[in-house]
Amino acid sequence: MSENKKPTALIIIFGATGDLAKRKLFPSIYRLFRKDKIDKFAVIGVARRSLTNEQFQENVKESVLTFGNGEEDVEEFISHFHYHSHDVSSSESYSQLKVLAESIDNQYSLEGNRIFYLAMAPEFFGTIAEQVKAQGLTDTAGYKRLVIEKPFGHSFETAQQLNEQLRTAFREDEIYRIDHYLGKEMVQNIEVIRFSNALFEPLWNNRYISNIQVTSSEVLGVEERGRYYETSGALRDMVQNHLMQMVALLAMEPPISLTTEEIRSEKVRALRSLRPMAVNDVDNYFVRGQYGAGQLNGEDVPGYREEHNVDPESNTETFVAGKLMIDNFRWAGVPFYIRTGKRMDKKSTQIVVQFKDIPMNLYYRTEENLTPNLLVIHIQPEEGITLQLNAKKAGTTANTTPVKLAVSNEGIDKMNTPEAYEKLIFDSMRGDATNFTHWDEVALSWKFTDIISEAWETKKEPSFPNYPAGSAGPKAADDLLAQDGHKWWSTDI
Ligand code: BG6
Repeated sequence: MSENKKPTALIIIFGATGDLAKRKLFPSIYRLFRKDKIDKFAVIGVARRSLTNEQFQENVKESVLTFGNGEEDVEEFISHFHYHSHDVSSSESYSQLKVLAESIDNQYSLEGNRIFYLAMAPEFFGTIAEQVKAQGLTDTAGYKRLVIEKPFGHSFETAQQLNEQLRTAFREDEIYRIDHYLGKEMVQNIEVIRFSNALFEPLWNNRYISNIQVTSSEVLGVEERGRYYETSGALRDMVQNHLMQMVALLAMEPPISLTTEEIRSEKVRALRSLRPMAVNDVDNYFVRGQYGAGQLNGEDVPGYREEHNVDPESNTETFVAGKLMIDNFRWAGVPFYIRTGKRMDKKSTQIVVQFKDIPMNLYYRTEENLTPNLLVIHIQPEEGITLQLNAKKAGTTANTTPVKLAVSNEGIDKMNTPEAYEKLIFDSMRGDATNFTHWDEVALSWKFTDIISEAWETKKEPSFPNYPAGSAGPKAADDLLAQDGHKWWSTDI
């Protein structure tokens, strides 16, 4: 599609009364509408509850006013929304949806372009895909695409079963698996920083890089999601998808061009190079944590085991730290450390690339200024880049002191960067799948994390809970790096 032609689509959102639709999807579609990136579009909200169109439109309006930063043209915007009360397992319900879709398609001249957006409980993903095909909703003159939220399966095996169900109705190139981290501005920036700077790409290998650290810490606990989280844990919730995707972007070879296929095939090659672990080797590479009661902003907060819908003796991890080795020519010997956790001291996602020390230190250095060069990519909440170098300490000494060259995205663009979902919805309408995960990536990531799950699920962790809420995680995470002579860089850099 040419850059200038606005995409057209009927977006059918399954799970339209849910939290994701309310917090992310409606406000993102609204922003696209306000920026005039879309005008010929309509949305059918699908959910079990019985609502009139007007009631549904009121819900959309409320979500836009609360989360969408604006109220202009809101009446016109919500007039594009329609509602269908649905029973996911009844064929009849899909036939009715088909009739409604056709009439709305005609009304807005949507050229038969359809996006089926699955934003609901994962156990229905497969059924919905099969039913939309069986009842003819996918027989349309335009494109048909399936946008699907995580979790994409629970293990390699269950993901494969789900994939097979989806593939009965959609081709691989019609399936858009959301990993919302790939929509984040600074995650998209990883490739640009690497491949457009003569300063970095020549150094981006095991001759010059000592280790790479990817941290994604959260202050929130499991909130109301205890039931889901008990079966997921931090490994499936964050590592298998978001963290491994960031590692793939950091480790991949330069693609020969920026097409979706080339970028994906390099990411897949990076994931294929991950050093496999045996189940009894997992403890040498990964540590797990679970938060106990603690304090946040001076307030007492309960431990994980006291949360709603959580087993009082739960063995579920709310924190993971690990060391990934990528056994190829570029990365042999360079650890990629990852960590993520709930109820930590800060909300922060950041990447630190630590360069090797220079061969010989000519300067007298005190403990405080013994600093390697670091490239820090700040993903959230601040967006930006910091490069830490050494310079001369002012005065009559030859001591060095670390100095920081820093840019923040606010400085680069002078505007708020669009939300991840806004970009991803727009990409799915334009047919650009680059920032979605291909089945091969999903499969390789599951195969890697399945070994860890196997090791952890068969062995109860006696030290749980092993970090207090509001802290930086368990000590074992520091020990993991200390045994290699490294340490975690703080998220305040
Ligand atoms: C989601 C996880 O995928 O990512 C949540 O299911 C987590 O548990 C969230 O809180 C974190 O996303 P972000 O964008 O706030 O870092």
